[in-house]
Amino acid sequence: MKKTILVTGGTGYIGSHTVIALQEQGYNVIIVDNLSNSEEEVIYNIEKITHILPVFEKIDLVDEQACEALFNNYAIDAVIHFAAYKYVNESVNEPLRYYKNNFHSILNVLTEMQKHQIKNLVFSSSCTVYGTPDSLPVTENSPIKKAMSPYGNTKQVIEEVLEDCCKANNNLFVTSLRYFNPIGAHPSLKIGEVAKGIPPNLLPYLTQTVIGKREYLSVFGNDYDTPDGTCIRDYIHVSDLADAHVCAIQRMIEKNTISNYEVFNVGTGIGYSVLDIVHTFEKVNNLKVNYQIKGRREGDIAKIWADTRKANELLKWKAKYSLEDMLKTSWEWEKVMANKK
Ligand code: NAD
Ligand code: WQD
Repeated sequence: MKKTILVTGGTGYIGSHTVIALQEQGYNVIIVDNLSNSEEEVIYNIEKITHILPVFEKIDLVDEQACEALFNNYAIDAVIHFAAYKYVNESVNEPLRYYKNNFHSILNVLTEMQKHQIKNLVFSSSCTVYGTPDSLPVTENSPIKKAMSPYGNTKQVIEEVLEDCCKANNNLFVTSLRYFNPIGAHPSLKIGEVAKGIPPNLLPYLTQTVIGKREYLSVFGNDYDTPDGTCIRDYIHVSDLADAHVCAIQRMIEKNTISNYEVFNVGTGIGYSVLDIVHTFEKVNNLKVNYQIKGRREGDIAKIWADTRKANELLKWKAKYSLEDMLKTSWEWEKVMANKK
């Protein structure tokens, strides 16, 4: 029998790519999203790719009663919880809005899962939990440092909540995936990242600069302790990241886990600097990026990349896309969006 996966935040950037990966592997998908950072049209774009229209429920998961009704209406085998606010800067300025949304939604989901004896959950965590690492690459056992933002704090605290729930209930299986820096768009170019307002992240800002929406890209600092002085990150194609969720779901459903709470880094294991990104983007797309070196951005760490061996071995997952492919799809997607307007 086909398993049914509830995908919260499923019209969002990573969620929508994961819905496609799940449908392609034969899962039934129910999307729940309040559309606070995405559009309903995403479900029709998913249908264009997979020829399956996912069930869609427009619900705010902070609303306890709406969340209860949702779980009463469907027989669910597993949940992937993407729904959250995700911008570091915004969280510094509006901590309560972030704490309320990100905590209440997961607590409501966990409460309903317990009531309905739903055993499997994948949680969207982040490399932000490592703060400034002592050594590289970071493994899942690297120390968790004090969070540098309310957003980061929500990820750290929710990981603890999940571990506590798993300790209290042997029948609950949870996987936290610590994503590194997702970029790129689905190769069909029917879905991708839709940045509302001025994007704080590197790739959408870069592509918006090249398309002419922004004057220039600020490179935040070139005096870091890295080969070219700019910060190093582990960029991963969003479709590779999506596949890791399917592997995590399979592992839990098949009861292949070593313990009922597991954590995995999801990155490529390769670090690229901001200038590597700029210059590779220019090369693969045959374009110039108008950029200026500016001062450091508060809160940025110099370098981080993942040790991915645990995910490679236990999830049987490995990133496939090259940096060149990631940067090509990022640019192609920006052009698709520009043509829509
Ligand atoms: P996104 O904003 O594109 O998607 C999140 C979706 O959740 C949106 O569609 C939004 O409308 C929905 N949502 C938010 N609050 C909700 C609520 N209360 N009820 C129902 N729906 C709600 O973000 P994304 O980039 O796809 O990120 C997905 C998850 O991955 C988030 O938890 C984020 O913190 C985490 N993450 C993202 C990144 C990244 O760089 N994109 C990196 C690490 C972790
Ligand atoms: C990447 C690099 C910037 C914009 C954030 C969150 C993290 C995770 C992923 C959710 C940095 C530089 C950026 C620009 C630049 N999200 N940059 N000019 O900060 O690594 O990670 O997204 O969990 O928690 O913190 O990603 O894309 O903002 O920055 O020079 O206009 O690009 O300084 O070195 P970051 P980013």
